[in-house]
Amino acid sequence: MLSFTLNGLKFRNPLILASGILDESGETMLKVIEHGAGGVVTKSIGIQEREGYENPVVYELPYGLLNAIGLANPGIENYGEEIRKAKEGGVPVIGSIFGGNAEEFVYLARKMEEYGADAVELNLSCPHARGYGMEIGTDEALVEEIVREVKRNIKIPVWAKITPNTDVVRIAKAAESADSLVLINTVKAMAIDIEAKMPVLSNKFGGLSGPCIKPIGVRAVYEVYREVEKPIIGVGGITTGKDAIEYLMAGASALQIGTAVYLRGVEVFFHIANEMVAWMKKHGYSHFTELVGIAQVR
Ligand SMILES: Cc1cc2nc3c(=O)[nH]c(=O)nc-3n(C[C@H](O)[C@H](O)[C@H](O)COP(=O)(O)O)c2cc1C
Repeated sequence: MLSFTLNGLKFRNPLILASGILDESGETMLKVIEHGAGGVVTKSIGIQEREGYENPVVYELPYGLLNAIGLANPGIENYGEEIRKAKEGGVPVIGSIFGGNAEEFVYLARKMEEYGADAVELNLSCPHARGYGMEIGTDEALVEEIVREVKRNIKIPVWAKITPNTDVVRIAKAAESADSLVLINTVKAMAIDIEAKMPVLSNKFGGLSGPCIKPIGVRAVYEVYREVEKPIIGVGGITTGKDAIEYLMAGASALQIGTAVYLRGVEVFFHIANEMVAWMKKHGYSHFTELVGIAQVR
């Protein structure tokens, strides 16, 4: 009911670990795979090691998480062993990368391919890193060039992860060379400590994730599905089987799970898979792909 193929890659289920959660090391990715994930996306990796911002970098809200980690990562030269370790789990491992221009993205993508990653995910969407992520991911010409150049230089599939903090359809169209689109990254947001009279996060602004952004993600998937003929991987607030089904009905062909790992523990992949299957059986569906895009009203 849940196995499928996307861009030539075989997945046992459509529930893929999203970038940035328990995925900086091969060991933690293996743990997530043991708990039922259909695939894993690594933490976004850049050219050089980065420490990220000073604390506080994560702030828990009643309805989600606000984070500005600052793309902390060990750097691409130190990352080969983590990919090799994660691959022992036997499911697709997708290498997430971030750069400041097409040349950097191409370098990083080639390295990920050399390390054995099954696909690369281009982070064109982090809302809190100066010179990276959303700053370049809102520029159509740059997005077009980066995706085209990466695609030209590697053989593995290329996924473009798009920010919701702009017109998603405009950027999705610019990423025309991508094999799949990933929608959405976090929503740019902030919180203020009224006693301290200052922003909570050291970076002031951060990215909002979790249940509160689900309607934004569902809307983004729905809008892009109508305009772009490419598989969409839906992400943003998926916490239960019903959330997963909502994204499928909007037009997603696969899903990613991030903040729900904090909310329901690493077993969340088993829980969501079981809840999806129960819902499909009750409603007479034999495979999840029958649900893709069925809520589209023309
Ligand atoms: C703590 C944290 C770190 C994240 N780091 C990354 C990252 O390095 N690269 C990236 O593309 N997205 C990153 N994200 C965004 C997630 O991959 C995902 O797009 C977003 O959180 C929405 O999904 P969710 O509501 O299921 O968490 C991060 C999210 C969180 C909460």
